[in-house]
Amino acid sequence: MIHRTKRIVTNDSRRQSKTARAIAVGMTGVAFASLVGFWLGPKLVASSINIQGWWIAISAVLLLVAFGGASAAMLAVRCSPTVERSPVKHLDVHQRSAIRRLRRRWPGAARRAGLSIEKSFPDRVEVAVPRLMNIESTPPGVSAEVVCLPGIAPDEVCGKAKRLSSALRMPVRLESKSPHTCAMTLFFRSPLENIASGTEWVTRLFEGAHTLSGLPYGQDEYGRLVAADFTILPHMLLGGRTGAGKSAAVNALLTAAITASMPCGLVLIDPKRVELRPWRRAACRVATEPDDLAIAMSEAQMTMRARYEFMERHEVRNLIEQPEHLEALGGPILIVVDELTEFLTLAGKQGGTALSSIAQLGRACGVFLVIATQNPRAELFSKSTGTETLRANLPSRVALATATADDSRVILGSGSEADASTIPPSLPGAFLRSGGGRALARVPYLSDRDIEKVVAAHPCQVTLIDLQDLAAAPKTQEGNEHVS
Ligand SMILES: Nc1ncnc2c1ncn2[C@@H]1O[C@H](COP(=O)(O)OP(=O)(O)OP(=O)(O)O)[C@@H](O)[C@H]1O
Ligand SMILES: [Mg+2]
Repeated sequence: MIHRTKRIVTNDSRRQSKTARAIAVGMTGVAFASLVGFWLGPKLVASSINIQGWWIAISAVLLLVAFGGASAAMLAVRCSPTVERSPVKHLDVHQRSAIRRLRRRWPGAARRAGLSIEKSFPDRVEVAVPRLMNIESTPPGVSAEVVCLPGIAPDEVCGKAKRLSSALRMPVRLESKSPHTCAMTLFFRSPLENIASGTEWVTRLFEGAHTLSGLPYGQDEYGRLVAADFTILPHMLLGGRTGAGKSAAVNALLTAAITASMPCGLVLIDPKRVELRPWRRAACRVATEPDDLAIAMSEAQMTMRARYEFMERHEVRNLIEQPEHLEALGGPILIVVDELTEFLTLAGKQGGTALSSIAQLGRACGVFLVIATQNPRAELFSKSTGTETLRANLPSRVALATATADDSRVILGSGSEADASTIPPSLPGAFLRSGGGRALARVPYLSDRDIEKVVAAHPCQVTLIDLQDLAAAPKTQEGNEHVS
């Protein structure tokens, strides 16, 4: 008995063979047309030896050639292959080779990863593989849309990322996009390692017209910009072990906040004294000493109260929704605390209570908090420090590399699937964020010179209520005058 291996026919190869057949039919048509023309031409010439005969012969040949060519082209166009072949422009050599490799290996890789549906015939196995659409180049490599076969859910396809990676010999990430498609990214370079330099970043932010609803502070591993939306998630908690890049993240956020189309006024709480030093000239308040910290907190709270009075007078419920009123008050205020543990040690329970109160009331009146901490321990947010409600009111969470998985959970929340303790030390400034899934991102690193450039172009426009002024003339001041 002779065992014959069955021929494997994928829907791609079937389409390709259809295309080849169409071309063959077309070419036969062209050849036939030419033969008829050559046969008919001399006959016509012989029958009527005049110039008209030649013309008729040549026209007949051209007509038949055109007919043959057109039918071939139409047939070829009707048979599109599994992997879309639209031209992709402006690619560098790596992107070109990645796209070529993807097109060549996709049918085999999809089959090996178990994404295909097979039908067995006596002489052959017909294999249907998912189609690839919208192949595009992206900063990390190539992205494409995988159209799932009937009966195969996008989640199942996403679960095959590792097997696809080994079959395509490129790191692959899959995310379900719609009920029938998955977004696939193939990486050949990591945008985390090639993030823009501080100078480039600052130049880009100077050009952009970003707002409070999208303050860019990093780039994720897909090459997408990561931005903080303070209108939806008004206060941010940044945590990570020493040297993880918290101050670098704060610098990136401050750059975005100060270069926004409605710039934020800065209140800098810097108990370590040196972290926010380069920003001092752009800030409306800087506090480093215990006394300064208490005064800055009181002033921020009083400014907040004055804003609420203003809102009451003007019947405004939310300044963020009424930017003209927010602008009249000088714009949003961003209070940055670089090192919460140190702040609580110096400012005590009173400081913690003030922070909690700002986190509760700040959003509607355009006062936002960014709090960085080295020790994201659950005990930090307790009654004894006046911060028991603080963590719950910091909805935007950014976890840079943490010492333990527990620390990561304290920052990102216990339901988060991401673990910031796995961030490699070779990537300072890399972070995970709440709502960002497992996608790693990284902040740019701004040097003091980059910050100086930003500070020089953006002086502070907000005025906080000054306690000393108040002490001098307590009865003559009105809420709306305090908040300029
Ligand atoms: N995006 C980045 N790219 C390259 N290097 C970075 C980046 N972010 C941070 N670094 C490096 O990591 C070092 C520490 O960063 P940073 O001062 O922001 O850490 P930190 O978390 O604030 O530390 P600490 O808690 O001790 O204040 C920086 O001096 C810089 O060399
Ligand atoms: Mg720091």
